[in-house]
Amino acid sequence: MIAMGKRHLAVCVLLLFAASARAADAPFVVTLPTVVDTMLKMGGVTAGDYVIDLGSGDGRIVIAAARQHGARGYGVELDPNLVNTARREAQRQGVADRVTFEAENLFNIDISKASVITMYIGESVNLRLRPALLKLKPGTRIVSHDFDLGNWPPDEKVTIPVPGKPYGPPRSDIMLWVVPADASGRWRWSMGEGTAPLEAQLEQTFQMLAGAVHAAGRGVPVQDARVRGEQVSFSVMLERGGRALRHEFKGRLSGDTIEGEVRAEGLQAPWRARRSARGKWHTDLAPAKFETPR
Ligand SMILES: C[S@@+](CC[C@H](N)C(=O)[O-])C[C@H]1O[C@@H](n2cnc3c(N)ncnc32)[C@H](O)[C@@H]1O
Repeated sequence: MIAMGKRHLAVCVLLLFAASARAADAPFVVTLPTVVDTMLKMGGVTAGDYVIDLGSGDGRIVIAAARQHGARGYGVELDPNLVNTARREAQRQGVADRVTFEAENLFNIDISKASVITMYIGESVNLRLRPALLKLKPGTRIVSHDFDLGNWPPDEKVTIPVPGKPYGPPRSDIMLWVVPADASGRWRWSMGEGTAPLEAQLEQTFQMLAGAVHAAGRGVPVQDARVRGEQVSFSVMLERGGRALRHEFKGRLSGDTIEGEVRAEGLQAPWRARRSARGKWHTDLAPAKFETPR
C-alpha cells in the first residue's frame, strides 16, 4: 500500500514538473560553420555590435560573432545543459568576457539592446516574434536561417549549399531584414528658390513605401520606394526644362525630417523634407492590403 502511494506521488511530481517545464518551440539542430559565417557577414557584424541569438543551442553563433568580429553577444536557450556547453565553449575560445548565455524562454527576454538578432528557430516562433522585432531600433539587423518572417519580405536573401546539413535538404536560406523607421505620411520640400513646393503622400508596408509626389496639381507615383533602417529612397519622374526626368531621392530620416540628396540627369542637390502628418504603417500579419494613393 505504502509502496503504491510512493509510486503515485512520484508520478504526480513528474507530471507537475513536466507541466511547469516549458516545451522547446524548436528542437536543437546546429547551424553549420559556413552558414554561421554567412549569417554574420550578412548581418554586417562588427566589434560595435551586440548580437542576440534567440534559441542559442551550443552558443556557436554568439561565440563566432565575438571571436571572428569582436562583437559582444548574448544567447538565450531553454535547455540548461546547452547553456552550460555554450559557457564552457566561450571559456575555451577565450571570449567569455564578451558573451553571456542564459537558460530562459526567448519570449521572456528584453531584446531592445540588440543591434543584431540571429535566429534558427522556426516559422511560427518567427511570426510570434515579429511584433517585437518591428519595435526594435531602426537599423537593427535580423538574420534568420531558413525560416522567414511571413509577408515581411527580407531586404536580402542568399541560398548556399550546405553539404552534411543535419536537417532538411543540403542547402540553407539566409535572410536579412533591416528594421525600418516609419517614413509614412505627408512630406514637403522645395527643389529650389522660385519653384513650387513638392509634396509626397506615402504609405508604408513593412519596409516598402507607396504613394505619389504631387507637383503642379498632378500626382506622380513613386518607384523603388523603400526604407532600410533610417535610409529612405525613392525615384519619381518630374518635369525639368519641359522634360520628364527620373529624380532619385535618398536621405536619412530622423524624427520628422529627411536629409539627403536628389539626383537627376546633370543634377545633384541637397534634399531636405519635412513631415507634416504621419500616415499608415502596415505591419500586421494579414497580407498587405493597401492602395497606392493618387
Ligand atoms: C534549431 S536550434 C538552433 C541553435 C543555434 N541557434 C544554432 O543555430 O546552431 C533551436 C534552439 O532553440 C531552443 N529553443 C526552442 N524554443 C525555445 C524557447 N522558447 N526559448 C529559448 N530557446 C528555445 C532549442 O532548445 C534549440 O536549442
